[in-house]
Amino acid sequence: MKNNYDRIADLYDLYVTADYDIAFWRRECAGAGNVLEITAGTGRVTLPLLTDGLRITAVDASYGQLERLRRKAEEKGLTVETVHADMRDFDLGRTFPMVIIPFQSLQEITERCDTTATLRRLRAHLAPDGRAIITLHNPAKQKDADGSALRLIEEYELKNGNRMLFWRSNMYDADARIGTSYQLYEEYDVDGVLHRKRLFTPRYRVFERAEIEDLIAQAGLRITRAWGGYDWSDLTADSCFMIFELRL
Ligand SMILES: C[S@@+](CC[C@H](N)C(=O)[O-])C[C@H]1O[C@@H](n2cnc3c(N)ncnc32)[C@H](O)[C@@H]1O
Repeated sequence: MKNNYDRIADLYDLYVTADYDIAFWRRECAGAGNVLEITAGTGRVTLPLLTDGLRITAVDASYGQLERLRRKAEEKGLTVETVHADMRDFDLGRTFPMVIIPFQSLQEITERCDTTATLRRLRAHLAPDGRAIITLHNPAKQKDADGSALRLIEEYELKNGNRMLFWRSNMYDADARIGTSYQLYEEYDVDGVLHRKRLFTPRYRVFERAEIEDLIAQAGLRITRAWGGYDWSDLTADSCFMIFELRL
């Protein structure tokens, strides 16, 4: 079966324009040499790091996303090693001084046992004196998405002159602690005729701080730093993010 992101890989860069975390990753990865980036996607974080001279091994489960990353790197004359793999179960047979899971993508693993498996895979790829950084949303900021109405989020003009309407509704299952984002992409031609409609439904698991800390410990990793934002602020109950530096 195709990865969910393959459905929208050609649209991803159109609607994901965030750059609030780039300065953070550039500073944290500076001097690392080799970086293993898990869930690299189309290279939103990868490309700035490649530009800084880092060697990146980019893992992702979507062929479509990785294809775009490769093409964008090539256009800039940069080289990236891409690996099509599931973060829950992969083995590159080597370790890295820096391993990152950016953009809160660890939360796309919705089963607790799979989160532990992913953290164990991260551990297996971490050099003895290496460091890893993972990022999650702080649940206090994420849980209130329950049952929102379908809303028009954005309108884009496509290269072919067609218009793309992006609609979204978020649901949250409090018992399972799983959120689902129902995203509809409608492409209309110049006559207003619907050309194509796509449904994309990324799911994410919400973790309280204590729960993720417990899973990190179960995977044999130590938390050596914790930040609440990409401005390196302290992690508090009100922080937007939970960013953890991990070591063996
Ligand atoms: C929100 S995107 C983030 C991409 C990129 N890091 C960024 O910041 O734009 C999440 C990415 O995680 C990947 N992904 C989701 N589940 C995965 C899994 N089990 N193993 C590997 N990659 C996965 C998706 O294919 C997608 O490219």
